[in-house]
Amino acid sequence: MYQAVYSGKISGNGVFTKKCQNFFEEKYGFKKALLTTSCTDALEMCAILCNISPGDEVIVPSYTFVSSAVAFVRQSAKIVFADSYPDNPNIDPEKLETLITPMTKVIVVVHYAGVACDMDKIMKIANKYNILVVEDAAQAIDSYYKGRPLGSIGHMAAFSFHETKNVISGEGGLIAINDERFIHRAEIIWEKGTNRAEFFRGEVNKYSWVDIGSSFLPSEIVAAFLWAQLENLDMIQAKRKVLWDAYYKLLKPLADIGMFKIPIVPDYATNNAHMFYVVCNNLEGRTALIDKLKIDGVGAVFHYLSLHSSPYYLDKHDGRELPNCDMFADCLIRLPMFYELGIEDVNQICNIIVK
Ligand SMILES: Cc1ncc(COP(=O)(O)O)c(C=O)c1O
Repeated sequence: MYQAVYSGKISGNGVFTKKCQNFFEEKYGFKKALLTTSCTDALEMCAILCNISPGDEVIVPSYTFVSSAVAFVRQSAKIVFADSYPDNPNIDPEKLETLITPMTKVIVVVHYAGVACDMDKIMKIANKYNILVVEDAAQAIDSYYKGRPLGSIGHMAAFSFHETKNVISGEGGLIAINDERFIHRAEIIWEKGTNRAEFFRGEVNKYSWVDIGSSFLPSEIVAAFLWAQLENLDMIQAKRKVLWDAYYKLLKPLADIGMFKIPIVPDYATNNAHMFYVVCNNLEGRTALIDKLKIDGVGAVFHYLSLHSSPYYLDKHDGRELPNCDMFADCLIRLPMFYELGIEDVNQICNIIVK
């Protein structure tokens, strides 16, 4: 950050932006990576790139952050909400095909807690119906599906570097483009609808307004902060995995006797230790556990509320019940998980839970 500030070049698309983008393209094989000011912005770029127009339908899991849906609603999409698996908050592909209509344009998948959705099944359905797939990989940096990096499988993907994520820049995000058809337009949308990128590459002799867009790119101060994190990615991930494994080992005996459930990482997925959660048997049990942890000074929190029954979407939803999503909304608790947490903190938190 010091270097960025004292270079005198702190607006966007400078040295640090390029370092970060190259890192993602080289390490994860994204055909194009563009930093954004948030994952929400990256999702908005996806919605524009997918050419959503009024009447188009977009399938989105109901158990997700509002951005996975609102980015497409802003482009006038109708959201068709999908349910989770019973034992994993990710979208259940077995029920996906029944949601597809001739108006379905996009499926948004969310790799909850950085654990992959079953992408082979999802891509097979999407290809059968000629539907685009956007991976909301907000939580999924450095995580894999059958050896393939998350964010590299769908047509495009969005990552978050919000301060709650594994790799952070305060606010921040990234759009990854895997289908070359979208690269040229992505660069234009990223730079307020202008062909500035072509101008800087010397491909045109002046730059003009050529499409819609916005100021999606972050400043070099943000990019420099992110670069310092990326340089330490392996250390960050290793530390988080130690904490995650400790939670798992200490809480498994309670899960084994049915006190609650702990995360399941399917064989096809890796665990990037973004989050450790437990799923209580009911809402009352969850409230009691959160309250008890709070009394002992531990900030454990629930997560998403079902989007299909949110005040904004309730009267627009088609009325289908999404019971697994509602169950996770009622019963899931996230335990503290951040780089500075010590193994002794995890021991203490688990002791309170055991008690
Ligand atoms: C699944 C998911 N998508 C999108 C977002 C939005 O990310 P950002 O805060 O970077 O816009 C979040 C934020 O936590 C998220 O969990």
